[in-house]
Amino acid sequence: MKTLIVQVPVLLFLINCVPTTSQSPAAAPAPPGPPNVTAILEKDGHFTVFIKLLQSTKVADNLNSQLNTSNQGLTILAPPDTAFSGLKVGMLNSFTEDQQVDLAQFHVLPYYLPQSRFQTASNPLNTEAGGSSQLLAMNVTTIGNQVNITTGETNATVSSTIYDDNELAVYQVDKVLLPLRFYVPLPPPPPSPPPPKKAAPKASPAYSGPVDSHGAKRQPGRVILAMICVMLAVQ
Ligand SMILES: *[C@@H]1O[C@H](CO)[C@@H](O)[C@H](O)[C@H]1NC(C)=O
Ligand SMILES: *[C@@H]1O[C@H](CO)[C@@H](O)[C@H](O)[C@H]1NC(C)=O
Ligand SMILES: *[C@@H]1O[C@H](CO)[C@@H](O)[C@H](O)[C@H]1NC(C)=O
Ligand SMILES: *[C@@H]1O[C@H](CO)[C@@H](O)[C@H](O)[C@H]1NC(C)=O
Ligand SMILES: *[C@@H]1O[C@H](CO)[C@@H](O)[C@H](O)[C@H]1NC(C)=O
Repeated sequence: MKTLIVQVPVLLFLINCVPTTSQSPAAAPAPPGPPNVTAILEKDGHFTVFIKLLQSTKVADNLNSQLNTSNQGLTILAPPDTAFSGLKVGMLNSFTEDQQVDLAQFHVLPYYLPQSRFQTASNPLNTEAGGSSQLLAMNVTTIGNQVNITTGETNATVSSTIYDDNELAVYQVDKVLLPLRFYVPLPPPPPSPPPPKKAAPKASPAYSGPVDSHGAKRQPGRVILAMICVMLAVQ
């Protein structure tokens, strides 16, 4: 009897200890779950505007959940505050909401690209915003360790590695990468679908916005409406 009473607390103690001991490896204990992109940028201290852009566009949330669910990893090309202050005054605020989302996603490659592989990356690089057909891609050139990026609108240099854990890489770039899409109209779409009757609302002059799908969306609505009319008529 006596021995049992003594053993139960000892057992409980051991059970409680197990997770604690197994969670402290020799290396610095990693926080549970995927790395937090905003926290990494915040820690550096030089990315306040970029963080605001990622948060106001909700792109930050997507990045964190992508890291949790995809095994491709991510690469972030992060412009520091000095790069944003190099933009023309008021430029960032002049972008539409859609453009701001594109701009944030344009600084993200949907896979992990280690520094050593910039050299062999094949141009153009697609971004989270899109690919070259949407003018939302970039080209990389390297000489030795130097990595340059051109979007057709911005020439930038990768200036340092902020973070790299073999799944997520965060590099600092010296300029805000402006997508060519903001400045060059998209090539005209194939002529097959009939143009929508109503003119699309105008965005900023050179920006043609996401592909308009109003024409395609309206048709099913009409069909359903017609079906309802027929059903009512039958009754
Ligand atoms: C990531 O870090 C930011 C800033 O430290 C925090 O506000 C946010 O809640 C974190 N997100 C997750 C998913 O932990
Ligand atoms: C990551 O995914 C797991 C389950 O797949 C979930 O329990 C956890 O809350 C997620 N963490 C974040 C930070 O999204
Ligand atoms: C990168 O751009 C700088 C000028 O901005 C240039 O001097 C350098 O040669 C370029 N390097 C590569 C690898 O293209
Ligand atoms: C990027 O590279 C592709 C293929 O080499 C080329 O067709 C395209 O014009 C380049 N774009 C820019 C902006 O340099
Ligand atoms: C970017 O670099 C290319 C070639 O190095 C040059 O032709 C182009 O004018 C530069 N563009 C800008 C915006 O600096």
